Formats: sequence, C-alpha cells, structure tokens
Amino acid sequence: MTSSANFVRHVISINDLSNEEIEKIFSVGESYLERLRDKRIPHKIGKGSQIADGKILAALFYEPSTRTRLSFESAMLRLGGKVITSADPDTSSAAKGESLADSVRVVANYADIIVLRHPRDGAARLAAEYSPIPVINGGDGSHEHPTQTLCDIFTLKKKNKKLKNLAVAISGDLRGSRTIHSFVYALARFGAHIVPMPAPGMELPAHVDRRLRDEFNCTFHTGDGSIGALYHTPDEPHQPALFPSAEFKIAIRHDKISAVYVTRFQKERWEEKEGTKYPRIDAKFLRDSKYSHASVMHPLPRVGELDASFDSDLRAVYFEQAAYGVPVRMALIALLLGLSKEHEISEYEGGFQKSKLPIYDHAVTEGIRCINSNCIVHDEKERPYVRNKFQVVKNKQNDECKLRCFYCESDANHFVVANKKNKWYTEDTSVLVHASDQHFKDFIVFAESTDALNKGYHLKRSTPSTSTEPALQRPKHFTKQL
Ligand code: NCD
Repeated sequence: MTSSANFVRHVISINDLSNEEIEKIFSVGESYLERLRDKRIPHKIGKGSQIADGKILAALFYEPSTRTRLSFESAMLRLGGKVITSADPDTSSAAKGESLADSVRVVANYADIIVLRHPRDGAARLAAEYSPIPVINGGDGSHEHPTQTLCDIFTLKKKNKKLKNLAVAISGDLRGSRTIHSFVYALARFGAHIVPMPAPGMELPAHVDRRLRDEFNCTFHTGDGSIGALYHTPDEPHQPALFPSAEFKIAIRHDKISAVYVTRFQKERWEEKEGTKYPRIDAKFLRDSKYSHASVMHPLPRVGELDASFDSDLRAVYFEQAAYGVPVRMALIALLLGLSKEHEISEYEGGFQKSKLPIYDHAVTEGIRCINSNCIVHDEKERPYVRNKFQVVKNKQNDECKLRCFYCESDANHFVVANKKNKWYTEDTSVLVHASDQHFKDFIVFAESTDALNKGYHLKRSTPSTSTEPALQRPKHFTKQL
C-alpha cells in the first residue's frame, strides 16, 4: 500500500482501497488503540509513538472542518510526526487566485503527505494528478469523504463484529452528503444492505444509485419487508448479481435495523437554504422496535436533525465514532508512508474497482464538459490544468455507454459521438464502447447534436439512433450545484 518511487498512492475515493486494505487499516488502527489508548477513555488514543519522526503532514483545507483536520493532525502528532496547516483560504495564496494544481505542487515540497478538503467535487483527484506525494481526500464538495467512511465502518464493525447482512439506514441529505456517498459503496462492498431514508428531494444522486446497482450488484426492493425500501447487497457483491427470483425476494425480508446513520442538511451545497421537511431523529422515532438494537451514527456536526437528549442512550455512538478518527487515520498515514515494516502490506495492485475502464481524454476546449457545474473542471483557476477526461462505462443492459467524469465521477448519459476524420456524428454511443484506447483520439464527444453540427459534422445516416431520449432534450447544465 505504500507509495514507491515511481508510484504515488492516493486515497481519493473509498474505491481506491481494496477490501483487504481497509481490513488492514482497521487491524493497524486497532493495534494503535490497544497499545496507546487512554486508560480512562477506551476509544481515545492517549499516548504517542515515534514512528513518523521526521515526517510532515500538510493539511490543506479550503472548507471549514473540526473533526477531519484536527483528528488528522492529532494522528500525525501521535505518530511522532509534525503538521503544517493551511485552514483558511482567505489567508493563503488561494485568495490571490492561485490554482489548486499549483498550490499542491508547492506544498508537496514542504511535506510528505497532504490531506485536502475543498468545496469543489473532484478537486482531490485533480490535486492527486499534480502531487508527487500521497494526497488523502478530506472531503471534496459533495463527491466523497473516504476517511470518514473508514471511521464509520470501523465503528460499525466494533459494534456488530461483522458487516455482512446488516441493514443500515441512512437518513437526511443523501444527495449532498459526501460522507454518504463513500459510505454506501463501502456498505455494499462489505455485504451490508442499505436502507435509504432521504429528506424529500434529497435522494442519492442518480450516478451513485446506478453504481450501486450496476457495479456493486445491489438490487433495489421497494418495501416488502418491515423496514421498507432497501438496496439488497448480494452474497457475492464482487460477482455479477443473479437475477432475483420470487424466492429471492422473500428471502430478503428484514425486520431489524442495525444502524441509523444521520446526516445534516448540507446547506452549503444547495441553492435553497432550508431543507423542507427535514427528518429529525429523536428518542421517540427510535422507540420503534425495529431500531431496538440500532447504533445511531452521525459524521457530525449536527445542527438539529439528531436530538441531543438522545446522547445518553446506549445506542448513541457518534462521539465514539468521532474518536476513532485518530487511530484509523494514524493507521492510514502509517500505511501510506510505509512507516512500519511490520505493518506494510503488499504493493498496491489496483485496489477494488480501480478503473480498468478506457479513458476518453481531450483538451478542455474540445467537446463535452462534465455535466456537474460544481465539478473542479468548471473552476476558471484550474482551466489550464484540467482536461475533458472521462471513463467510458458500458451500460449493463445494452451496448451503449455513459461517460463518467474522471474527477467528480458524475455520469453523462446523453451525448453524441463524432468521427474527426470522416466528419460524421452519431447518437449511437456504442461506437465508443467498440473503439480501442488508441482510437479514442479519432472521436470527439459533444453534449448535443447541435454542437456537432456547429463544428461542421453531419449526421451519420447509416446508423439509426438507439437512444430513447433525443440528446437535445438533455438539460444544458444543472440548475442546482449538484
Ligand atoms: C462531514 C463533512 O465535512 O462532510 N463532517 C466530517 O468530516 N465529519 C459531514 C458534514 O459536514 O455534514
């Protein structure tokens, strides 16, 4: 897992880590907890070691943070390393208009590892592209927050011993919460079932829903068990899902929730400043028998959606969950920096679902741009450093494909493909699926057929359109940030 001279290991998405690597982080974190715990508070690290002596962690935070930044700093200090911090973009060169790509290359000279938090989706992947030292994503817009998920899964495992077949409810702003996006992927990968309880209009983003179904082989069931709708994770989530039969449906009835994961309304990611009918979780809500053994979790901060009067209930685990930020992040730093030979695991072999997908990679001036207006590619400062770069993901059901933004992982489903040499374009996206990597440069993708026509391409007549929705009906851009 360590970074070697010619390969730098970054953790941008939870899917950059294999299940085995996550287990390894947990066992190293557990060993720190055993050796260095505060005798009076069992989940707290109270002593330090010296294994990171001489190493420096840089915390580069462009958004507010309490837990993530301070627990990373505490983790590095407990390992015997040092920290340098830029926590206020108003007092850094960002205020003068410096790009993230430049800042990262500069900071990499002052430290051995970077933790980055940024308001733009995909910012951490961009930083990783430019950084010669490991970058850890401390939360990028509404994209992902993989180390929060490590703390969440560590907590769940401690409370339940295993994750397989747990039913985990996720409540609140499922669209805007980056913690949720990393969390649901991890739940599916470890065999837990996901019970969505979104605030109205705040369901999981379409691309996260699709990935759960298509890549993590979850089947969505609309409420035939007592706990309602859920994503059912198959026994073998790494294998293609079996076709669900009637018996299969009956077999998935659950009547107990193992954990409720509460999130706040992410007001900074929405144009509307109020979350209407936002679910509030309190002792009354949790009196229902299906929650009788449910751990109540929250990445924190809470701002009213989780009642403080519940804090003394034995099911409330959120402060413990926050405490685990230190041992878990100590383990991640130690493993990424290869600080302890005894802890080292095999060289990175691609991680779970590390993309083997073909990459469409064009200049930012050419063709389709990411559909997510909050993606880092739309930040004017970064324009010289980003590309129109997408993974080509084949649809499960047919030969067509979608384009997944390399940075923020939003999917573009509707576009037209043009052939540069022959000057035609087609709405049949399977053309890209059949092209080899070398041939991608012969194609250029446009968001809409009018864009292709304006650039002098003509419709390829021999290929009938297989698209059910005409590309022209695709909205030009998101009206909301998400
Ligand atoms: C979360 C975040 O920043 O995404 N906080 C955290 O890191 N523990 C959750 C939130 O802000 O709601």
